[in-house]
Amino acid sequence: MKFFIDTANISQIKEANDLGILDGVTTNPSLMAKEGIKGEENILKHYVAICNLVGKNVSAEVISTDFEGMITEGKKLAALHPAIVVKVPMIKDGIKALKWFSDNGIKTNCTLVFSAGQAIMAAKAGANYVSPFIGRIDDASWDGVQLIEQIVHIYGNYGYKTEVLAASIRNPLHIVRCAEAGADVCTCPLDSILGLLKHPLTDIGLEKFLADHKKGQQ
Ligand code: E4P
Repeated sequence: MKFFIDTANISQIKEANDLGILDGVTTNPSLMAKEGIKGEENILKHYVAICNLVGKNVSAEVISTDFEGMITEGKKLAALHPAIVVKVPMIKDGIKALKWFSDNGIKTNCTLVFSAGQAIMAAKAGANYVSPFIGRIDDASWDGVQLIEQIVHIYGNYGYKTEVLAASIRNPLHIVRCAEAGADVCTCPLDSILGLLKHPLTDIGLEKFLADHKKGQQ
C-alpha cells in the first residue's frame, strides 16, 4: 500500500518524506488555506515546492466546477511539474473533465467520493485515483472502511485500473483497516502515520534491552 501525506504543511511533508516511506501528497483548498497560502501565484509556487520535495504524486485540486474551467485550471496545474495529479470533484462536469484529462495524458484524482456508484463513475471516466473520504463517513455514523471494501471488490470484478485512495483518515487503525480492505493508497495526517509506530511493549522491551546492556558493561 502506498502512503501519501494529507497536508500542505511543508515541515510535516519533509518529516514524513525523511522517513523514506512517503509515496505522495494530497492537498485540498482547505489544507492550503490552513497554511495561509493565498493568491494564485503563491498557491502555484507552493505546489511546485511540494513537488520538488517529494518528486511524485502531488494532488492539486481545481477550484472551478464547470468543465471548461476545470480543463483550463487542470492544464495549468499539470504544466507545473510532472508530479502533479489534478484533483477533480465528483460532480457531473468533473466526470467529463476526468475523461478529458485521461484522454490527454493528465493524471487525476477524483475527490469527494462517498459511494460505490460514484467510484464506478470515476473509474469509467479513467481517473487514476478515486478518493473515498472514510473519516467523514464515520463522522456521519456509517463505516467508511466498508466503502473501501466495496470499491476494491467492484474494481476487482472488472479490472478497473483506478487506484483506491483511502482519504479523510483520522487514526492509525483506519490505516490498518484500509490495508486489510485492499486500498491501494492511504492519505494520512502525519500523526496517524507516526501512530503506526507506537506500541507500549516496544518501549518496555527496548528499555529492558538497554538496561541489561548497561548492566553487562559494568
Ligand atoms: C483527501 O484528499 C482530502 O484532502 C482529505 O483526506 C480530507 O480529509 P478530512 O475529512 O480530514 O478533511
